[in-house]
Amino acid sequence: MTVAETVERYAPPARLSAEANLGADAYGRAEADRLGFWAEQAGRLHWDEPFGDVLDWSEAPFARWFVGGKLNAAYNCVDRHVEAGDGDRVALRFVGEPGDERLITYRDLLDEVSRAANALEALGVGAGDPVAIYLPMIPEAVVALLACARIGAPHTVVFGGFSADALRSRIDDFGAKTVITADGGYRRGAPSALKPAVDEALKACPDVANVLVVRRTGQDVAWTEGRDVWWHDATAKASPEHRPQAFDSEHPLFVMYTSGTTGKPKGILHTTGGYLTQAAYTFWGVFDHKPDDVYWCTADVGWITGHSYVVYGPLAAGATQVIYEGTPDTPHRGRWWEIIERHKVTLFYTAPTAIRTCMKWGAEIPARFDLSSLRVLGTVGESINPEAYRWYRRTIGGDRTPVVDTWWQTETGGHMITPLPGVTAGKPGSAMAAVPGVRVEIVDDAGEPVAAGESGYLVLTEPWPAMARTIWGDPQRFIDTYWSRFEGRYFAGDGARRDEDGDIWLLGRVDDVMNVSGHRLSTTEIESALVSHPSVAEAAVVGASDETTGQAVVAYVILREGADASDEKALIEELRGHVAREIGPIAKPRRILLVPELPKTRSGKIMRRLLRDVAENREIGDATTLADASVMTLIRDGMTAATADD
Ligand code: WTA
Repeated sequence: MTVAETVERYAPPARLSAEANLGADAYGRAEADRLGFWAEQAGRLHWDEPFGDVLDWSEAPFARWFVGGKLNAAYNCVDRHVEAGDGDRVALRFVGEPGDERLITYRDLLDEVSRAANALEALGVGAGDPVAIYLPMIPEAVVALLACARIGAPHTVVFGGFSADALRSRIDDFGAKTVITADGGYRRGAPSALKPAVDEALKACPDVANVLVVRRTGQDVAWTEGRDVWWHDATAKASPEHRPQAFDSEHPLFVMYTSGTTGKPKGILHTTGGYLTQAAYTFWGVFDHKPDDVYWCTADVGWITGHSYVVYGPLAAGATQVIYEGTPDTPHRGRWWEIIERHKVTLFYTAPTAIRTCMKWGAEIPARFDLSSLRVLGTVGESINPEAYRWYRRTIGGDRTPVVDTWWQTETGGHMITPLPGVTAGKPGSAMAAVPGVRVEIVDDAGEPVAAGESGYLVLTEPWPAMARTIWGDPQRFIDTYWSRFEGRYFAGDGARRDEDGDIWLLGRVDDVMNVSGHRLSTTEIESALVSHPSVAEAAVVGASDETTGQAVVAYVILREGADASDEKALIEELRGHVAREIGPIAKPRRILLVPELPKTRSGKIMRRLLRDVAENREIGDATTLADASVMTLIRDGMTAATADD
């Protein structure tokens, strides 16, 4: 996506500015005393034992934040709101895809989380025992995360769209002995099963002792006696009283797996005190959350956004929020706007790809609904192109609402670069400035800051509370991936540019990671899935730009000698299905091209840049380092033939 050079600015509404949670002064205060500023933010939480040093960076890059402090994340997200007299405040306004609704107050949530914590303990799960969660977007997902946090059992949530095999490798890497799942969930108007994937995955995970199963759809499930337990049975039997224990600030809270540049996903570890501090602070400041707001983030709990801005941030702030199980077009394309109208949503957070899809469906759809309750809009996942930003602001926000384009990552845990709704005069397409307390730089290959207008690599120059602590089981990979490219600084893997005003524009990944509909996918992971098929000899995957999804997966495949390609279309379909089975439907290539050769350098490295040129129908760039220069002509000819067939 290209960066527009001349763009308008949108000043914050006067009233919002005057009453903003986070004012312009925060930048100066954080600059003058960064650690003092973070200590002040930690004051948003209840600490059972106060911390001493704000930061211990003596074993960099392995940070310890709020040293010696003790707290319980679930207590902070639930109990303390009830104790403060807000037990009747609605925490979750759940909307199921079929139209069923549940209002869950903070008091109800306390009851459910306590029962679930007791049920887990009754199954022998305790502090430090990893739990894997594979659930649809239903209230039990929120309850399950909080119940784990309450007893100090680190969780890993695997997105329901991932395959049995992806689930298995995560359970295995994490060492989970307990899995929480459901019979299924509703997607696109029909029940979609989850339990079969768990059953399949567990054939290869002998260490898993128990599977707690939430009944959501009522569909038939296979049952393993002695291992499988119904969630409703276990929680009904359990007491609604549970005393939360305080854990060390650095106690592992969760691991979120994310795609890296190799085939093996990285388990990003987040711990308790620092993570919760930054999630709570940014939720409050970046969305300007006030007690009577109704917030809605459309992310699934299977992604980091669902952790920081559905579960931990909003609940730590005592927010009322909508959670929705299904897709935006079920049963009709106005479903989201209908939910906003019905629940009077004031703060709305979604992904640019979803906005572009709604743009395609047409402005007349949201126009049928009253969206006047909205006061702040947010985006996450990729840069928002200026056209989508303007459409979002005007069509959804009635030209009143600031748009906060929030840049962050699974690894950063919380927002890092974003406009502030009461301060920043936003520019469409720019994430603007580092959050108060965060320091970023844009540097060249040698690590020197680039001049205004030049692009370079985005680095974070100082540690921040919600930073990843390590890669689960692989601290060396943590050092190599993030802390080695530029000495002492965190390398985000994104390109960026500062304009003449000093505002930051994100330019996309600079490594072999793709961004499809705001989801991170690794080229290498999909390549390994393809070559695991008996017909495939070699594969190269690239992300080609796509109007709606940001990038689309395009795969170039060399078949094995003797592979049956008599029905090319059927074989391509078979390969697409194979990737969906190996990784999940989100990783399915949009296009697969069967090619005789791949462009490689003399050292054997695939030149993905050239393949991207072909996939995006561009002139092929500099190919002089190719071992065999005729390859590109072969591929291009093949591509033209395939396009003509489409
Ligand atoms: C991209 C999602 C531009 C970026 C929270 C980053 C963005 C990766 C933005 C992290 C944004 C996310 N502008 N790019 N506002 N937000 N990205 O770990 O490439 O799923 O490195 O975390 O998404 O993806 P992840």
